[in-house]
Amino acid sequence: KQRILIVNSGGDCPGMNAVIRAIVKRASRELDWEIIGSINGFDGFLAEPLEIMPLTKDVVEGIHIYGGTILTTNNKRNPFCYPVKQEDGTILNEDVSDKLIYNLKVFGFDAIIHIGGNESHKISLKLAQKGVNIIGIPKTINNDLASTDYSFGFQTAAQVATEAVDKLVTTASSHNRVLILEVMGRDAGWIALHAAVAGGADVCLIPEIPFSMDKVIEKLKSRYSADGRGFANIVVAEGAYFKDEKGAIVSGNIASKITAALKKINFEADIRETILGHLQRGGTPNAFDRILATELGVKAFELVKEKKFGTMAIHKNSELTHINLTEVIDKYNKVNLSHNLIHTAKGVGISFGD
Ligand code: F6P
Repeated sequence: KQRILIVNSGGDCPGMNAVIRAIVKRASRELDWEIIGSINGFDGFLAEPLEIMPLTKDVVEGIHIYGGTILTTNNKRNPFCYPVKQEDGTILNEDVSDKLIYNLKVFGFDAIIHIGGNESHKISLKLAQKGVNIIGIPKTINNDLASTDYSFGFQTAAQVATEAVDKLVTTASSHNRVLILEVMGRDAGWIALHAAVAGGADVCLIPEIPFSMDKVIEKLKSRYSADGRGFANIVVAEGAYFKDEKGAIVSGNIASKITAALKKINFEADIRETILGHLQRGGTPNAFDRILATELGVKAFELVKEKKFGTMAIHKNSELTHINLTEVIDKYNKVNLSHNLIHTAKGVGISFGD
């Protein structure tokens, strides 16, 4: 039998279980394949003894509807820079890729399917360059991978963020308050942009558009009438930033900085902050993400079968296809300022503070 090792790495996201199930179900339609999962990213395959999990049809039955990953994952491990305990008890980062390759050979693995985001694909490429038969599958809630039109996890995260905006709009309007919602997106503002448009926010702050605090305040003022009636909702991506009076970049915890700026000018309304956090990453994947994850899982298995190693399964121009890992690395999908959705958002009066 031919053996495929599934490794998921990076942060979890809705749809990971659906990918695992799809690979296993597709492989089980043929006689000569065995699918095994590495527990906790590459950790399981580097452990002594190995921590791996045989993935049969029975094991994956029905898991596509659950968030997270049955294999567990982590976003702190890289086999090329891996924490190794030394004899004196100290930990040093070492390149343990040869050990990984040795384990693949000794335990009879023919290929790896690696499910991950940007950092994971860098690892995949380096392994491919060392001769490992590897296929990548893109995943991220941030939608920041340029090589694929969609990555599973994003639609579910955007839905969760939208529902949060919906709820905050009702409480903001009931109390004439300013409600600020921080969503994920360190480098790309897709979740914030989608939630702001879908939920009907007044201000949307994203890493791709440095904002001016004065412009944000101006917009908030316009939301209140002379007698103080009104309300406002702000959606801010965690990577949004502005420049202070001295021109220095201010980033991180932007919600509290907006609150401070409003308090400084004795803004008429109360302000409340919400950090959505990991609620965006957990939970049941929506139909779109389940379908996409299933498509990519089936495709990845077929790429292994066709020996198209060193590639990643993707969705491009409405086509399920693949791309060389060399073309994937360091290519980020940022919100393009000429993107239709920015135009649309501005068209319905959303301010980006620019
Ligand atoms: O998956 C990416 C991301 O969601 C970022 O937007 C966020 O900052 C990060 O993960 C948090 O991950 P963790 O808390 O697992 O380190």
